[in-house]
Amino acid sequence: MSNRLKVAPNDLSAFWMPFTANRQFKQAPRMLVAAKDMHYTSSDGRQILDGTAGLWCVNAGHCRPKITEAIQKQAAELDYAPAFQMGHPIVFELANRLVDIAPEGMEHVFFTNSGSESVDTALKIALGYHRVKGEGSRFRLIGRERGYHGVNFGGISVGGIVTNRKMFGTLLTGVDHMPHTHLPGKNTFTRGVPEHGGDLADELERIVTLHDASTVAAVIVEPVAGSTGVLIPPKGYLQRLRDICTKHGILLIFDEVITGFGRLGTPFAADYFGVTPDIMVTAKGVSNGVIPMGAVFVTKEIHDAFMTGPEHLIEFFHGYTYSGNPIASAAALATLETYKEEGLLTRGAELAPYWEDALHSLKDAPNVIDVRNIGLVGAIELKPIDGQPTKRAFSAFVKAFEKGCLIRTTGDIIALSPPLIIEKNQIDELIDCIRDVLNTVD
Ligand SMILES: Cc1ncc(COP(=O)(O)O)c(C=O)c1O
Repeated sequence: MSNRLKVAPNDLSAFWMPFTANRQFKQAPRMLVAAKDMHYTSSDGRQILDGTAGLWCVNAGHCRPKITEAIQKQAAELDYAPAFQMGHPIVFELANRLVDIAPEGMEHVFFTNSGSESVDTALKIALGYHRVKGEGSRFRLIGRERGYHGVNFGGISVGGIVTNRKMFGTLLTGVDHMPHTHLPGKNTFTRGVPEHGGDLADELERIVTLHDASTVAAVIVEPVAGSTGVLIPPKGYLQRLRDICTKHGILLIFDEVITGFGRLGTPFAADYFGVTPDIMVTAKGVSNGVIPMGAVFVTKEIHDAFMTGPEHLIEFFHGYTYSGNPIASAAALATLETYKEEGLLTRGAELAPYWEDALHSLKDAPNVIDVRNIGLVGAIELKPIDGQPTKRAFSAFVKAFEKGCLIRTTGDIIALSPPLIIEKNQIDELIDCIRDVLNTVD
């Protein structure tokens, strides 16, 4: 490690940190200076067990040799190629390899640089699709309360997190929201898919009736909502959404930014639930979080609908300077190879029962009011401190870092999503750390 990396800068003020309590952080910075496999190294030299795969993205663990080498080699060979009207072989190869592991019917991939860009790309594809099919009256987009679809204007419009929306004016027009599916009274301490709430999908039918199906372009949901605290879809819910969309000619978009690439023990949540969307939004795990990349999967029907008109004309006026960037593509290809060699896209299924038992052993820890899990995802919901929502979980996060574990909190919920290479003894270590923390925080 270079010396430059080890030394903490003496002025932290210039960097306005994203989604961070800046003033708190800068008084007591939590700095990471290196990483390997399941661990980070902090600037004071401690090993920190990664309970969150970075931000739900480092699915294969940190600094994996194949990925590092691929990036180094690609950077020295072809650093950048224009993304518009030009190509380079590796991005075509990557698209093919992605289609190989995608749910059946997903045959084309549009590259972006993040989950937020993938979401907005998917929404634009949906609107464009109906227009090229001669159904331009379908302009409405339906999201869901407590949904997180990144931070761009499309994503926050269909998203359902008040704090992410309230500062930003009118957002996109023509958007409606289904209710969220979190039913604490009924589904508390559920292991896996909750029993109650499948009928909430019928709210989509109500919304479609209200606006008339001829005005509705697409419905977007996270199969498992992560950012608002791991909300697992009730039994039958996603299939019902699929049926209603199919019945009305509405496109179903799954935002698989966190569920994609093995998180549930299957390549995608679509595989886990046996429900295939029309468009699948991914990012994060596609390149192991190492280099920004997103990938939007679409069916052949959607793709082919755009392939009309004179052949010298651009079919879809959308794209990014870095769509399918050579270095990101090389990182993603090496990531897919690592997943394949180590069976990581399905490893979560083997570990899930152990993970589930370990998580639910926290049921009786102080202030725990719910525990839920699916695949290698877990949530521990804490009772909020009266008048100070989020404070208890935030204190737990800070204390866990001091004790050597990286966890993530949202509201008063601890959300866990470790790299898919985690071993059973490391699951024990993570859960023991959280138990200790819950025994000591107020
Ligand atoms: C479901 C979902 N969609 C979109 C995003 C946005 O991804 P990014 O931060 O890469 O823009 C996230 C990020 O956590 C996410 O969880």
